[in-house]
Amino acid sequence: MVKVQVPASTANIGPGFDTLGLALKLYNIYFFEELQEGLIIDGCPQKFKNENNLVYKAFKITADKIGFKIKGLKITMETDIPVSRGLGSSAACVVGGVLGANALAGNILSKEELFNIAVEIEGHPDNIAPAMFGGLTASLMLESKPYYVKHEINKDLKLCALIPEFEVNTSEARKVLPCKVDYKEAVHNISRTAVLLKALQTGNEEMIKLSIDDLLHQPYRKLLIYEYDKVSEICKNNDSLAVFISGAGPTIMNIVKNSNFTKLIQNDIINLAYKWNAKMLETDFDGAVVTGGYNDKEVPYSKQKNTSRGI
Ligand code: HSE
Repeated sequence: MVKVQVPASTANIGPGFDTLGLALKLYNIYFFEELQEGLIIDGCPQKFKNENNLVYKAFKITADKIGFKIKGLKITMETDIPVSRGLGSSAACVVGGVLGANALAGNILSKEELFNIAVEIEGHPDNIAPAMFGGLTASLMLESKPYYVKHEINKDLKLCALIPEFEVNTSEARKVLPCKVDYKEAVHNISRTAVLLKALQTGNEEMIKLSIDDLLHQPYRKLLIYEYDKVSEICKNNDSLAVFISGAGPTIMNIVKNSNFTKLIQNDIINLAYKWNAKMLETDFDGAVVTGGYNDKEVPYSKQKNTSRGI
Protein backbone atom coordinates (compact mmCIF):
# COMPACT_ATOMS: atom_id res chain seq x y z
CA MET A 1 0.00 0.00 0.00
CA VAL A 2 1.17 3.49 -0.85
CA LYS A 3 -0.08 6.72 0.76
CA VAL A 4 0.36 10.07 -0.99
CA GLN A 5 -0.51 13.34 0.74
CA VAL A 6 -0.71 16.38 -1.55
CA PRO A 7 -1.21 20.04 -0.53
CA ALA A 8 -3.66 22.52 -2.03
CA SER A 9 -2.14 25.42 -3.94
CA THR A 10 -2.98 28.95 -4.99
CA ALA A 11 -1.74 29.85 -8.47
CA ASN A 12 -1.02 33.21 -10.13
CA ILE A 13 -0.86 35.31 -6.89
CA GLY A 14 -2.02 38.51 -8.62
CA PRO A 15 0.39 39.48 -11.42
CA GLY A 16 2.20 36.12 -11.76
CA PHE A 17 -0.31 34.65 -14.20
CA ASP A 18 0.45 31.01 -15.16
CA THR A 19 3.78 31.36 -13.32
CA LEU A 20 3.58 31.69 -9.53
CA GLY A 21 2.15 29.12 -7.14
CA LEU A 22 2.07 28.62 -3.39
CA ALA A 23 1.43 25.36 -1.51
CA LEU A 24 -1.11 25.51 1.34
CA LYS A 25 -1.64 23.45 4.48
CA LEU A 26 -4.86 21.87 3.26
CA TYR A 27 -4.53 18.33 1.96
CA ASN A 28 -5.88 15.48 -0.11
CA ILE A 29 -4.66 12.02 0.84
CA TYR A 30 -4.71 9.10 -1.59
CA PHE A 31 -4.09 5.43 -0.79
CA PHE A 32 -3.11 3.02 -3.58
CA GLU A 33 -3.40 -0.72 -3.13
CA GLU A 34 -2.77 -3.46 -5.67
CA LEU A 35 -5.73 -5.85 -6.21
CA GLN A 36 -5.99 -9.18 -7.99
CA GLU A 37 -8.42 -7.59 -10.48
CA GLY A 38 -10.69 -4.61 -11.22
CA LEU A 39 -10.78 -0.98 -10.15
CA ILE A 40 -12.25 0.23 -6.86
CA ILE A 41 -12.35 3.93 -6.04
CA ASP A 42 -13.54 4.99 -2.58
CA GLY A 43 -13.98 8.37 -0.93
CA CYS A 44 -15.45 10.41 -3.78
CA PRO A 45 -18.90 10.95 -5.32
CA GLN A 46 -20.29 8.05 -7.39
CA LYS A 47 -19.80 9.95 -10.68
CA PHE A 48 -16.01 9.90 -10.16
CA LYS A 49 -15.79 6.17 -9.36
CA ASN A 50 -14.72 5.06 -12.82
CA GLU A 51 -11.78 5.05 -15.25
CA ASN A 52 -12.25 8.78 -15.96
CA ASN A 53 -11.25 9.62 -12.40
CA LEU A 54 -8.32 12.06 -12.65
CA VAL A 55 -6.26 10.30 -9.95
CA TYR A 56 -6.70 7.01 -11.77
CA LYS A 57 -5.95 8.56 -15.17
CA ALA A 58 -2.71 10.09 -13.83
CA PHE A 59 -1.81 6.75 -12.20
CA LYS A 60 -2.46 4.86 -15.46
CA ILE A 61 -0.51 7.29 -17.68
CA THR A 62 2.46 7.07 -15.31
CA ALA A 63 2.25 3.28 -14.95
CA ASP A 64 2.12 2.92 -18.76
CA LYS A 65 5.20 5.13 -19.17
CA ILE A 66 7.07 2.98 -16.65
CA GLY A 67 5.77 -0.25 -18.18
CA PHE A 68 4.30 -1.17 -14.78
CA LYS A 69 1.50 -3.70 -15.19
CA ILE A 70 -0.96 -4.00 -12.36
CA LYS A 71 -3.79 -6.57 -12.21
CA GLY A 72 -6.21 -4.47 -10.21
CA LEU A 73 -6.15 -1.26 -8.18
CA LYS A 74 -7.95 0.23 -5.19
CA ILE A 75 -7.73 4.00 -4.68
CA THR A 76 -9.07 5.45 -1.44
CA MET A 77 -9.31 9.22 -1.08
CA GLU A 78 -9.60 11.56 1.88
CA THR A 79 -10.10 14.98 0.38
CA ASP A 80 -10.15 18.38 2.09
CA ILE A 81 -9.35 20.50 -0.98
CA PRO A 82 -12.62 21.85 -2.41
CA VAL A 83 -13.22 21.05 -6.09
CA SER A 84 -13.39 23.73 -8.85
CA ARG A 85 -12.64 26.58 -6.44
CA GLY A 86 -9.16 27.59 -7.66
CA LEU A 87 -7.28 25.78 -4.90
CA GLY A 88 -5.43 23.23 -7.00
CA SER A 89 -7.70 20.22 -6.50
CA SER A 90 -7.03 18.90 -10.01
CA ALA A 91 -3.26 19.36 -9.58
CA ALA A 92 -3.53 17.42 -6.30
CA CYS A 93 -5.33 14.56 -8.09
CA VAL A 94 -2.68 14.50 -10.83
CA VAL A 95 0.28 14.62 -8.43
CA GLY A 96 -1.37 11.94 -6.27
CA GLY A 97 -1.85 9.59 -9.21
CA VAL A 98 1.61 10.17 -10.70
CA LEU A 99 3.49 9.74 -7.39
CA GLY A 100 1.26 6.83 -6.36
CA ALA A 101 2.02 4.87 -9.53
CA ASN A 102 5.74 5.57 -9.26
CA ALA A 103 5.91 4.49 -5.60
CA LEU A 104 3.84 1.33 -6.16
CA ALA A 105 6.05 0.43 -9.13
CA GLY A 106 9.17 0.77 -6.95
CA ASN A 107 10.32 4.40 -7.44
CA ILE A 108 11.36 4.08 -11.05
CA LEU A 109 11.20 7.68 -12.27
CA SER A 110 13.21 10.74 -11.25
CA LYS A 111 11.59 13.83 -9.73
CA GLU A 112 12.13 15.64 -12.99
CA GLU A 113 10.40 12.90 -15.00
CA LEU A 114 7.46 12.85 -12.57
CA PHE A 115 7.15 16.65 -12.74
CA ASN A 116 7.16 16.49 -16.55
CA ILE A 117 4.41 13.85 -16.61
CA ALA A 118 2.23 15.71 -14.09
CA VAL A 119 2.53 19.01 -16.01
CA GLU A 120 1.78 17.25 -19.29
CA ILE A 121 -1.45 15.90 -17.78
CA GLU A 122 -2.48 19.15 -16.04
CA GLY A 123 -1.50 21.42 -18.95
CA HIS A 124 0.29 24.11 -16.92
CA PRO A 125 2.93 23.99 -14.18
CA ASP A 126 1.87 26.69 -11.72
CA ASN A 127 -0.19 24.41 -9.44
CA ILE A 128 1.83 21.24 -10.05
CA ALA A 129 5.16 22.73 -8.88
CA PRO A 130 3.95 23.80 -5.39
CA ALA A 131 1.77 20.69 -5.01
CA MET A 132 4.80 18.49 -5.67
CA PHE A 133 7.62 20.47 -4.10
CA GLY A 134 5.93 22.83 -1.58
CA GLY A 135 6.49 26.51 -0.82
CA LEU A 136 6.39 29.41 -3.24
CA THR A 137 7.33 28.44 -6.78
CA ALA A 138 7.79 30.15 -10.13
CA SER A 139 7.66 28.02 -13.22
CA LEU A 140 7.99 28.31 -16.97
CA MET A 141 7.53 26.12 -20.02
CA LEU A 142 10.08 25.66 -22.79
CA GLU A 143 8.94 23.56 -25.74
CA SER A 144 6.48 21.59 -23.58
CA LYS A 145 9.05 21.00 -20.85
CA PRO A 146 8.39 22.59 -17.45
CA TYR A 147 11.03 24.20 -15.23
CA TYR A 148 10.54 25.63 -11.74
CA VAL A 149 12.43 27.46 -9.01
CA LYS A 150 11.55 27.95 -5.38
CA HIS A 151 11.33 31.39 -3.77
CA GLU A 152 11.34 32.20 -0.09
CA ILE A 153 8.18 33.41 1.61
CA ASN A 154 8.12 35.28 4.89
CA LYS A 155 6.77 33.08 7.70
CA ASP A 156 4.77 35.97 9.27
CA LEU A 157 2.53 36.23 6.22
CA LYS A 158 -0.75 34.36 6.52
CA LEU A 159 -3.35 33.60 3.95
CA CYS A 160 -7.08 33.79 4.25
CA ALA A 161 -9.15 32.08 1.55
CA LEU A 162 -12.73 33.14 0.97
CA ILE A 163 -14.24 30.07 -0.63
CA PRO A 164 -17.70 30.57 -2.14
CA GLU A 165 -20.42 27.98 -2.36
CA PHE A 166 -20.41 28.22 -6.18
CA GLU A 167 -17.86 26.79 -8.64
CA VAL A 168 -16.01 28.31 -11.61
CA ASN A 169 -14.71 26.00 -14.29
CA THR A 170 -11.05 26.66 -15.21
CA SER A 171 -11.61 26.23 -18.95
CA GLU A 172 -14.46 28.78 -18.82
CA ALA A 173 -12.20 31.14 -16.86
CA ARG A 174 -9.54 30.82 -19.60
CA LYS A 175 -12.06 31.46 -22.38
CA VAL A 176 -12.87 34.94 -21.05
CA LEU A 177 -9.24 36.08 -21.41
CA PRO A 178 -8.26 38.20 -24.44
CA CYS A 179 -6.03 36.67 -27.14
CA LYS A 180 -3.60 39.60 -27.13
CA VAL A 181 -2.26 41.84 -24.39
CA ASP A 182 -1.30 45.48 -24.54
CA TYR A 183 2.43 46.23 -24.19
CA LYS A 184 1.88 48.52 -21.19
CA GLU A 185 -0.23 45.87 -19.46
CA ALA A 186 2.51 43.28 -19.96
CA VAL A 187 5.06 45.65 -18.39
CA HIS A 188 2.60 46.35 -15.56
CA ASN A 189 2.54 42.63 -14.69
CA ILE A 190 6.23 41.85 -15.26
CA SER A 191 7.37 44.69 -12.99
CA ARG A 192 4.89 43.78 -10.26
CA THR A 193 5.73 40.05 -10.35
CA ALA A 194 9.43 40.78 -9.88
CA VAL A 195 8.78 43.21 -7.01
CA LEU A 196 6.16 40.94 -5.41
CA LEU A 197 8.60 38.03 -5.11
CA LYS A 198 11.02 40.13 -3.07
CA ALA A 199 8.19 41.64 -1.02
CA LEU A 200 6.87 38.15 -0.18
CA GLN A 201 10.34 37.15 0.94
CA THR A 202 10.88 40.16 3.22
CA GLY A 203 7.22 40.60 4.25
CA ASN A 204 7.37 44.31 3.28
CA GLU A 205 3.68 45.26 3.60
CA GLU A 206 3.82 48.40 1.49
CA MET A 207 5.56 46.63 -1.40
CA ILE A 208 3.12 43.68 -1.24
CA LYS A 209 0.18 46.12 -1.51
CA LEU A 210 1.83 47.93 -4.43
CA SER A 211 2.85 44.88 -6.39
CA ILE A 212 -0.18 42.57 -6.12
CA ASP A 213 -2.11 44.31 -8.90
CA ASP A 214 -2.79 42.47 -12.15
CA LEU A 215 -4.09 43.51 -15.56
CA LEU A 216 -3.79 40.22 -17.45
CA HIS A 217 -6.52 38.00 -16.03
CA GLN A 218 -8.36 39.33 -12.98
CA PRO A 219 -10.22 42.23 -14.70
CA TYR A 220 -11.88 39.62 -16.96
CA ARG A 221 -12.32 36.80 -14.48
CA LYS A 222 -13.83 38.84 -11.67
CA LEU A 223 -16.94 39.10 -13.85
CA LEU A 224 -17.41 35.32 -13.39
CA ILE A 225 -17.30 35.63 -9.60
CA TYR A 226 -20.53 36.78 -7.95
CA GLU A 227 -19.98 39.54 -5.36
CA TYR A 228 -16.26 39.85 -6.21
CA ASP A 229 -16.24 43.63 -5.72
CA LYS A 230 -18.15 43.46 -2.44
CA VAL A 231 -15.87 40.74 -1.00
CA SER A 232 -12.77 42.57 -2.17
CA GLU A 233 -13.99 45.81 -0.56
CA ILE A 234 -14.70 44.06 2.76
CA CYS A 235 -11.21 42.53 2.79
CA LYS A 236 -9.45 45.80 1.91
CA ASN A 237 -11.43 47.64 4.61
CA ASN A 238 -10.09 45.13 7.14
CA ASP A 239 -6.41 45.60 6.38
CA SER A 240 -5.84 42.80 3.89
CA LEU A 241 -2.38 43.37 2.40
CA ALA A 242 -3.39 41.75 -0.88
CA VAL A 243 -6.68 40.56 -2.38
CA PHE A 244 -6.42 38.34 -5.45
CA ILE A 245 -8.26 35.57 -7.30
CA SER A 246 -6.86 32.18 -6.35
CA GLY A 247 -5.92 30.39 -9.58
CA ALA A 248 -8.80 30.64 -12.03
CA GLY A 249 -11.20 31.39 -9.14
CA PRO A 250 -13.72 31.65 -7.67
CA THR A 251 -11.89 31.62 -4.30
CA ILE A 252 -10.72 35.09 -3.30
CA MET A 253 -7.38 34.93 -1.48
CA ASN A 254 -5.89 37.42 0.97
CA ILE A 255 -2.41 37.91 2.34
CA VAL A 256 -2.78 39.11 5.92
CA LYS A 257 -0.65 39.64 9.01
CA ASN A 258 -3.49 39.46 11.52
CA SER A 259 -4.47 35.88 12.43
CA ASN A 260 -7.90 37.21 13.54
CA PHE A 261 -8.72 38.31 9.99
CA THR A 262 -11.67 35.88 9.66
CA LYS A 263 -13.24 37.39 12.81
CA LEU A 264 -12.75 40.93 11.47
CA ILE A 265 -14.63 40.21 8.24
CA GLN A 266 -17.23 37.80 9.66
CA ASN A 267 -20.10 40.27 10.19
CA ASP A 268 -19.82 41.72 6.70
CA ILE A 269 -19.37 38.36 4.97
CA ILE A 270 -22.50 36.76 6.48
CA ASN A 271 -24.62 39.59 5.09
CA LEU A 272 -23.69 38.75 1.49
CA ALA A 273 -26.12 36.90 -0.81
CA TYR A 274 -23.79 33.90 -1.31
CA LYS A 275 -22.19 31.82 1.40
CA TRP A 276 -18.42 32.48 1.69
CA ASN A 277 -16.32 30.20 3.89
CA ALA A 278 -13.37 32.15 5.34
CA LYS A 279 -10.41 29.84 6.03
CA MET A 280 -7.02 30.85 7.43
CA LEU A 281 -4.26 28.88 5.70
CA GLU A 282 -0.53 28.61 6.18
CA THR A 283 2.16 27.91 3.63
CA ASP A 284 3.05 24.24 3.18
CA PHE A 285 6.82 24.10 2.77
CA ASP A 286 7.14 20.34 2.11
CA GLY A 287 4.89 19.53 -0.85
CA ALA A 288 3.69 16.00 -1.51
CA VAL A 289 4.60 13.26 0.97
CA VAL A 290 4.81 9.65 -0.16
CA THR A 291 4.74 6.77 2.32
CA GLY A 292 5.00 3.07 1.58
CA GLY A 293 5.94 1.23 -1.58
CA TYR A 294 9.61 1.72 -2.16
CA ASN A 295 9.73 4.49 0.52
CA ASP A 296 9.57 3.13 4.04
CA LYS A 297 9.57 6.48 5.84
CA GLU A 298 7.18 9.42 5.71
CA VAL A 299 9.53 11.84 3.99
CA PRO A 300 8.33 14.96 2.17
CA TYR A 301 8.76 14.36 -1.51
CA SER A 302 10.85 17.52 -1.91
CA LYS A 303 13.35 16.22 0.66
CA GLN A 304 13.77 12.70 -0.67
CA LYS A 305 16.93 11.72 -2.43
CA ASN A 306 16.52 11.38 -6.14
CA THR A 307 16.27 7.59 -6.14
CA SER A 308 15.47 7.19 -9.79
CA ARG A 309 16.52 3.88 -11.28
CA GLY A 310 15.68 5.13 -14.77
CA ILE A 311 13.34 3.70 -17.35
N1 HSE B 1 -2.75 29.62 -14.03
C1 HSE B 1 -3.98 28.92 -14.21
C2 HSE B 1 -5.05 29.89 -14.62
C3 HSE B 1 -4.35 28.23 -12.95
O1 HSE B 1 -5.11 30.96 -14.03
O2 HSE B 1 -5.84 29.58 -15.50
C4 HSE B 1 -5.61 27.45 -13.08
O3 HSE B 1 -5.62 26.39 -12.21
